[in-house]
Amino acid sequence: MCGIIGYVGPQQALPLVMDGLRRMEYRGYDSAGVAVQDDLGAVGVARKAGVLANLEKLILDDDLKLPGSTGIGHTRWATHGGPTDRNAHPHRDVTGRVAVIHNGIIENFAPLRAELESAGVELTSDTDTEVVAHLLAAQYDARPGDLAAAMGAVCRRLHGAFTLVAVHADAPGQLVAARRNSPLVVGVGDGEMFVASDVAAFIAHTREAVELGQDQLVSITAQGYDVSSFSGGSADFRTFHVDWDTDAAEKGGFEFFMDKEIAEQPQAVADTLLGHFDGSRIVLDEQRLGDEELRTVDKVVVVGCGTAYNSGMLAKYAIEHWTRLPVEVELASEFRYRDPVLTRDTLVVAVSQSGETADTLEAVRHAREQKARVLAVCNTNGSQIPRESDAVVYMHAGPEIGVASTKAFLGMVVANYLVGLALAQARGLMYADEIGREFAALEKMPAAISETLTRMDRVRALGKEISDSRAVLFLGRHVGYPVALEGALKLKELAYMHAEGFAAGELKHGPIALIEEGLPVVVVTPSPKLRPLLHSKLLSNIREIQARGARTIVICEDGDDIVAPFADTLIELPPVPVLLQPLVATVPLQVLAAEIARTRGYDIDKPRNLAKSVTVE
Ligand code: G6P
Repeated sequence: MCGIIGYVGPQQALPLVMDGLRRMEYRGYDSAGVAVQDDLGAVGVARKAGVLANLEKLILDDDLKLPGSTGIGHTRWATHGGPTDRNAHPHRDVTGRVAVIHNGIIENFAPLRAELESAGVELTSDTDTEVVAHLLAAQYDARPGDLAAAMGAVCRRLHGAFTLVAVHADAPGQLVAARRNSPLVVGVGDGEMFVASDVAAFIAHTREAVELGQDQLVSITAQGYDVSSFSGGSADFRTFHVDWDTDAAEKGGFEFFMDKEIAEQPQAVADTLLGHFDGSRIVLDEQRLGDEELRTVDKVVVVGCGTAYNSGMLAKYAIEHWTRLPVEVELASEFRYRDPVLTRDTLVVAVSQSGETADTLEAVRHAREQKARVLAVCNTNGSQIPRESDAVVYMHAGPEIGVASTKAFLGMVVANYLVGLALAQARGLMYADEIGREFAALEKMPAAISETLTRMDRVRALGKEISDSRAVLFLGRHVGYPVALEGALKLKELAYMHAEGFAAGELKHGPIALIEEGLPVVVVTPSPKLRPLLHSKLLSNIREIQARGARTIVICEDGDDIVAPFADTLIELPPVPVLLQPLVATVPLQVLAAEIARTRGYDIDKPRNLAKSVTVE
């Protein structure tokens, strides 16, 4: 949510900043803007509502040069103030000496704004951010020459969530950046420095990074960086090496990032497994929880949002099966407001691709306040949720740029399953050879997913055929139910089409009233060999909806002759173990949603109103 980049070094800043924004546009596309400081210190700004291409056009049409080697850039996901030119970042103080960009929400901006207005400052936008520009200018005037101290003084007055980056005309060649509850990483290059919301913004230039802690600020110049607390004291921070390469953040010949990310799923699953089994034991990444603590766990609560929540629904089936521990799955946004029953023996598994989602982060904090242990399942090294958790499993799926999650979903499912196996191992419920067998089954999944991907022509054709439908329903039982939820979520996100996922058994208790002539209904069917009873129940459901005129789209195992006669469209998948079926069954649903959206003419990487990581509650 909002992408931020800053650069200081020997090169011209504008192209570098624009390139960084291009790599982060998934974080918000309501507006984009840049500020570049020239060699004498003067700060030039360009900003434009809408996608980044609008800003590029403005720069081109108006022949804006914006020379200089210190620059900042922003892509916006609007919170305060509509997505207009005047609300686009950077925001400036009245003299135009300060330019500032912001990700997050400044909760006390109203009294700060009133204070500025009563002092005669005329604000020119509806944003919460603009107050920072004015406050920073005043603070700098009070302590000339110390931009970091001025920023620290401003931050101490702010409530809420923010990453801020600022440049000041009187401090040439310097940027200051600060963070609380929103992401900020520093890229350490050779004679040049970056700050950004996400390493994707600078990995083309450097893979050495610094992760800032809570309530810290950093001052960067071409020569280096200096991290401190908001009050100027020393601060603990972590340096790390980014193992994603530049190609991972490029489209690589695909029309959209999402197409590429769907195709990368076999690799994403293989990478998630990599290094997590040492031949006899499951190994977590950052294990600040010992086996002893995992042994005393008496309940697991999985929290997440959107796709991450759906992966948690699957975790319930696997973790309960392997550990016999009760597993609850909860929307992170509901969790802390409902006074959940948490004890020292509760393990909260916080699932988040970005590691930044504010709802999930607050759920983590609430759980820790209640003394529960927290294990994060995350894709992004250096993000906040893993940092605040007791243990971490990284899914190593590589950067996911498409807003709708695909490869990270499969990565989450696999990582959640590893958590289940780690619990079973610590509690002595599975022998090493049993764990080894489950892991070996997981290791066969990249091949099964690759095979599934070769069968997608039929799905793409189907997407074109049903792209005019008013709605699509998704049904499944057991692990097919969360798959149905994920299929419906993808379709809503990408095609703006009404879509619902239901537990197929629940059909007769209400949803069947929705069935009408020609309504496409996607049914995720289990293996007839491995789950014959479940299979026969689903067959009845398919017959019920077909009798009422639905168009049945049946996802089933290869050679399922029982269900085939009742399918208007049959999509066959390679046979895999029961708990692993979601890793193949989700793939056609992703492709279907993408194809329907494409046929309707939508940008599948940047669905309307959404942002990839939502850093506000
Ligand atoms: C946003 C995205 C969803 C995503 C959810 C959770 O709403 O649009 O696609 O599933 O956030 O994101 P996380 O990074 O926590 O997995």
